[in-house]
Amino acid sequence: NARIGQVILDNLREIPDFPEPGVLFRDITPLLANGEAFGKLIDELAEHYRGKIDAVAGLESRGFILAAPLAVKLGLGMITIRKAGKLPGPVIGVDYELEYGTARMEVRPEAIHEGQRVLIIDDVLATGGTAAAAVELVRALGAEVAGVTVLLELAGLNGRDRLPGLLVESGVTF
Ligand code: PRP
Ligand code: HPA
Repeated sequence: NARIGQVILDNLREIPDFPEPGVLFRDITPLLANGEAFGKLIDELAEHYRGKIDAVAGLESRGFILAAPLAVKLGLGMITIRKAGKLPGPVIGVDYELEYGTARMEVRPEAIHEGQRVLIIDDVLATGGTAAAAVELVRALGAEVAGVTVLLELAGLNGRDRLPGLLVESGVTF
């Protein structure tokens, strides 16, 4: 969607060597701080997914910022898929590989219902590990992943390859 891509690009900040040398960090906080742009982004996402999904799952923490207003706008519930140890139990979890070490994402089983069409949303798709773990959690609870949507896709890291057969939509691809 060209309108979504444009509003992201117009409000993006690029920081060289953050958080470590050699990394060009793309920062979405200027977009969030621009009320008109943030509103337009959420409106466009809502029109794009209206009628196609039953719940919005945000990935901690920057995915939450997007999932909450989108869910409210669509009159749907928001599911928080969180880093290990943040949600009180019972939870189910999935471990995944990071560049250095491993991480774990968790969700409350009661938050997702069988047969629901769940949209997974986050700010950035990098290696795809976080999103792939979220997909596994949603499916483990008998729900369907309606799609994975991100504002920014870092195509060089091949995150899409970890989400085979899924609708993966990104506002801007680098
Ligand atoms: C970032 C980003 C995605 C994830 C993408 O989150 O917001 O969730 O990494 O990386 P991947 O595709 O390689 O898994 P981070 O862990 O920095 O957490 P934050 O949102 O809490 O800052
Ligand atoms: N920006 C924001 N988050 C990220 C990035 C980036 O460029 N790379 C990995 N996570």
